[in-house]
Amino acid sequence: MRAVSPLGLRVTRRGFLRAAAVAGVGAALPPRSSRAADARIDVLASEPIGPVTADFYGHFVEHLGGVVYDGLWVGENSRVPNTRGIRQAVIDHMRRLPAGPIRWPGGCFADSYDWRDGVGPAGQRPRRTNFWANDMASLPDGAGKYDPNTFGTNEFMRFCRLAGGAPYLAANLRSLPPRDFYQWVEYCNSPAGSTTAAQLREQGGERDPFRVRYWGVGNESWGCGGNFSPEDYAVEYRRFTAWVPRFGVNLAFIGSGPNGGDLAWTRRFLAKLTERGEGALGSLWGWALHNYSWNTSRGATTDWTAGKGDALQFTTDEWYELLNEADRMEGLITGHWAVMGEVDRRHRVKLVVDEWGTWYRAGTAVDPSHLFGQQSTMRDALVAALTLDTFHRHADKVAMANIAQLVNCLQSLFLAHEDRFLATPTFHVFELYGAHVGGQSVRTMVSAPRIGYQRVNAAGSLWGLGGSASIKDRTLTLTVVNPHVSDARDTEIAIRGAAPAGVRATTIAAGQLAAHNTFEQPRAVEPRETSAGPIAGGTFVHRFPPASVTRLTITLT
Ligand code: AHR
Repeated sequence: MRAVSPLGLRVTRRGFLRAAAVAGVGAALPPRSSRAADARIDVLASEPIGPVTADFYGHFVEHLGGVVYDGLWVGENSRVPNTRGIRQAVIDHMRRLPAGPIRWPGGCFADSYDWRDGVGPAGQRPRRTNFWANDMASLPDGAGKYDPNTFGTNEFMRFCRLAGGAPYLAANLRSLPPRDFYQWVEYCNSPAGSTTAAQLREQGGERDPFRVRYWGVGNESWGCGGNFSPEDYAVEYRRFTAWVPRFGVNLAFIGSGPNGGDLAWTRRFLAKLTERGEGALGSLWGWALHNYSWNTSRGATTDWTAGKGDALQFTTDEWYELLNEADRMEGLITGHWAVMGEVDRRHRVKLVVDEWGTWYRAGTAVDPSHLFGQQSTMRDALVAALTLDTFHRHADKVAMANIAQLVNCLQSLFLAHEDRFLATPTFHVFELYGAHVGGQSVRTMVSAPRIGYQRVNAAGSLWGLGGSASIKDRTLTLTVVNPHVSDARDTEIAIRGAAPAGVRATTIAAGQLAAHNTFEQPRAVEPRETSAGPIAGGTFVHRFPPASVTRLTITLT
């Protein structure tokens, strides 16, 4: 296959490998490097995969526990610094990240939400029992349990503007008819003054349309979103998308896809959707995949509750097991992609991984009202890094991804309670990896000794080094995860098809696997510049510390 490299070189993979062999690269390494290295990374600069966009760095804000109320929304009259009710610290930190899309209002909550409850004068909005109230039965009463609807569509759009991310709205398919969906589209997108909905929007202070492009059609329709069969959901999906007003916006509908590895959900949905022709694929821009890394029982159980481990207390075997859980993303993407290709032969529909992250048992939330609140350690940093690397490596298949969730819930970027705030190690990975955005992902081959560990009835193993690379102008960004709990990895790095001139390294590493940031010590884990290079003979050796995430910024001649 012929490809144009991001550097403008025209090469074939076979041609390059042949040329490399003739020139001796890949066979005999420079003596100094080969003595030093016990692992190799070959970046194939001439093998583009696809663009890395900010859409891979998306977020998720659900009306769940302390995400919206306390986390994001503190109120306009709060003593907590805010911009028109939205926590200033979140806004400031979001601006340091790629401007990824923000999914709202759920999650499971979305299929119980009536958008009309959250528009119009704030003082007149109804108070409703939150979808998660049953799970919160033992927790204190508050806005998480009885939603005051102070934070509605206009407030969410305000947040998107302040944070710099595009809105991605999830429509209620379980408990409202399609009319409510397209009228929400009308509320958001109809031109100023054109419809009653546009006037309502304007009365709330928003004259101009929001021009929302991304719309989720239900959420987890196999579960909390209605317990549908894939066939029944496909019928609903067709009904919901049959007519929706465009208002000049290129609407992108996202179907409620599988739970993890449920290939049958993907296969049966697509078969039913297209039973009268492949034209129906035109209504499906993205296919949502959800996957959480949660089971640290190492094979002892698949029970959703019993299998979960603690966010802060874990053994090294549990460390590796959780990283393996996250590494399943690779097979989930390729597996569902192959099944999608059985019907969508031209692969018009892309994957949208709109819920991913770690999920531990309760006990480490910064406030008892934060349902599913949990701490985030170096282990979460590695989960975030290896997952983002996976998305980059599949930039031709993945169109969007949204980590769950932004603040105070699951693998959060931020933890906040009242006037206290911290950025987690996961935030730092997002910021570090943001350098990839705008680049072209290129094929990267990593070889390192696998790591063995103990599962309950068998030996487990994990790769010894992982990563991804992208090229933007004359800069190559290479991000690398070393999962080994105690061994540094000396690695020979070669850039095939381009010549490196200089290299800088930034690393997130901590002495403790469970190192994390607290309100008292908010900077315990953060990136640090480290030494890198020198480059000799077009290659260099880099030492990746144990349990670390590293970004190498490589200047190309
Ligand atoms: O992110 C928490 C919940 O997990 C979401 O509401 C739901 O979609 C998923 O099951």
